[in-house]
Amino acid sequence: LHTSLHTCRKPKLPPNPLPPFYCCPPASSSSEPINFTLPDPVEPLRVRRPVHGVGAEYMAKYERAIALMKALPHTDPRSFYQMANIHCAYCTGSYRQTGNPELDMQIHFSWFFFPFHRAYLYFFERIAAKLLGEPDFALPFWSWDVPEGMRMPPEFANSSSPLYDPVRNPRHAPPRLVDLDFVGVESNRTDEQQIQHNLRTMYKQMIGNAALPSLFHGQPFRAGQFDKPGPGTVELSPHNTVHTWTGDIALTNVENMGTYYSAGRDPLFYPHHSNIDRLWEAWRQVGAAHGYRGHVDFVDPDWLDSSFLFYDEESRLVRITVRDVLDTEKLRYKFDGVGMPWVDARP
Ligand code: C2O
Repeated sequence: LHTSLHTCRKPKLPPNPLPPFYCCPPASSSSEPINFTLPDPVEPLRVRRPVHGVGAEYMAKYERAIALMKALPHTDPRSFYQMANIHCAYCTGSYRQTGNPELDMQIHFSWFFFPFHRAYLYFFERIAAKLLGEPDFALPFWSWDVPEGMRMPPEFANSSSPLYDPVRNPRHAPPRLVDLDFVGVESNRTDEQQIQHNLRTMYKQMIGNAALPSLFHGQPFRAGQFDKPGPGTVELSPHNTVHTWTGDIALTNVENMGTYYSAGRDPLFYPHHSNIDRLWEAWRQVGAAHGYRGHVDFVDPDWLDSSFLFYDEESRLVRITVRDVLDTEKLRYKFDGVGMPWVDARP
């Protein structure tokens, strides 16, 4: 499944959307995208660490990166405005399927969920590093799956920070504990009960219910088919639930985080997805460590050869395939700094 810039068009938005109402990327200076190539293997390995563990100085870098992106003109593909729009374009039917222009390209609720967001963060992180002038800058992750990370990191709740987003649920500012099962109703669990509940949710979604690639990743979505064939375990929860928990439940579509078209407008989106990306690695690791033989990625060429479009840190339009993003070490980053306490939280 592929898509092209030429066929990008107006998004199909839900009722009462917040502006902007258009999210296709700016046109490219060269007419066709270049094919992705892996970074130089001698590049330093970026180490993504948890927001709660990196320290204030490191978070100040992420804050500066967001401020720099926000300061770029909206026409610049590396601007925060365009970064947020990438997400909108890939989930509102803006992009058409190459060869089937009547059908939408949509990366959620299908086997593209993990690889698309990995590629998205890869470019986001490198653009941040480039703007900061710090080649080994790594995107921190919001590890809501471990007790120390189960609150919105306070850096994001400070209203004078570029990491703040006023369009959120005011009840969920820190120190409120996240509910990984949130469906719009406040739980009345004590903090201790909520932590245990979250760990059990993690076990179910990562192990109990995720024994096969299609269960974890989501259902196959091939060219010529209708979008959203079916989500994987983690996409539904905790991924969607944390989105809904963060967004403003008083708004029609739970903006910003709680709906596709606007989710990328919250600077918390990227550390949230950095954790989702880490869970893909964790699912494979747990499988290898415990002999769960279904914890392996698809080998279907329809998955491996599918592609997405992004602008890179040099503002070049790049076509990247699923196959390109399967090995984080080749992409020159890894995760460190938290364990997987939920492995032992069998309900
Ligand atoms: Cu593309 Cu967190 O959704």
